Amino acid sequence: MRVVLAPMEGVLDHLMRDLLTKVGGYDLCVTEFVRVVEQVISDRAFFRACPELKNANAYGCTTEAGTPVRVQLLGQHPTCMADNAAKVIELGSHGIDVNFGCPSKMVNNNRGGAVLLKDPENLYQIVSAIKKSVPREAIVSAKIRLGYEDKTLAIENAQAIEAAGANELTVHARTKVEGYKPPAHWHWIAKIKQNINIPVIANGDIFTFDDAQKCREITNCNDLMVGRGALMLPNLAQVIKHSDTQSVTKTMLNGQEVKAMPWPKVQALLLDYTECETYGDKSKYYPNRIKQWLKYLKLQYVEADTLFQEVRTLKTAEDIRALL
Ligand SMILES: Cc1cc2nc3c(=O)[nH]c(=O)nc-3n(C[C@H](O)[C@H](O)[C@H](O)COP(=O)(O)O)c2cc1C
Repeated sequence: MRVVLAPMEGVLDHLMRDLLTKVGGYDLCVTEFVRVVEQVISDRAFFRACPELKNANAYGCTTEAGTPVRVQLLGQHPTCMADNAAKVIELGSHGIDVNFGCPSKMVNNNRGGAVLLKDPENLYQIVSAIKKSVPREAIVSAKIRLGYEDKTLAIENAQAIEAAGANELTVHARTKVEGYKPPAHWHWIAKIKQNINIPVIANGDIFTFDDAQKCREITNCNDLMVGRGALMLPNLAQVIKHSDTQSVTKTMLNGQEVKAMPWPKVQALLLDYTECETYGDKSKYYPNRIKQWLKYLKLQYVEADTLFQEVRTLKTAEDIRALL
């Protein structure tokens, strides 16, 4: 079983990847999407989205904990996507992930993200151009939703991506129109999985061990991707893999059951996050990101809610650090 740390634009950056993969249990990270418009993107822009590329070695780029990191591209022009894919593989990305799920109005109006799910042929052209532009052994994956307005093309889209040569497919079990509204329709992932032969990674609303179990039962997928859940519960991947809940897949970590991370440990992580700060005290980057993270943490920890109320009016990294 693999647990993949989801791409989350505006929240899950390299600092967070570093922290969460050090906590453990993740097998792969996908970066926030890099928007491909017309030309080949500069090294600098790729390094900004994925600083792990700077340390890439023969095995590709990884977080400090050694978890592989895959760059996600978002765009609609097959040739341009292919040129950028080739470049980012050369820079050392652990494969390429293609975003066919972004619901943003601005992105969709520019014919990127989930809007492409209306046209399986377009998906085929993009993935196939990317696959041809990278070395044979480079992994090309795609991430889709179940459709744009409805689910009628869900299977056809997945088959187009497989036919184009993709190595694996992540499915977020909702349409674009469904946004993030519960429930995630895991049984649709099962339908897709029955109709293609490449590995399918199930995604959507996995917040606990029980969710993970249920999702795996319904979808028949070995591999899961978690996003918001990973931000709510920093050791979610380990809980999923080594929980104390009765289960046939139960395994222990060093003979220990893994329980939800206690708040003092989360506090220590919040402090570690301040130390990772590389953008200077004047930058809004760190204050914005830590507020975003606290918004997720407070769904799991009451203490995070109290802390969020205190942090929300603070504007500088220095002030937040002092409070923590
Ligand atoms: C704030 C936010 C940003 C996201 N950014 C991306 C992104 O850059 N690329 C992508 O493929 N999906 C993105 N997603 C979707 C997530 O990767 C994931 O598919 C979705 O949140 C459902 O999984 P979850 O229930 O585990 O969070 C984003 C989701 C959120 C909430």
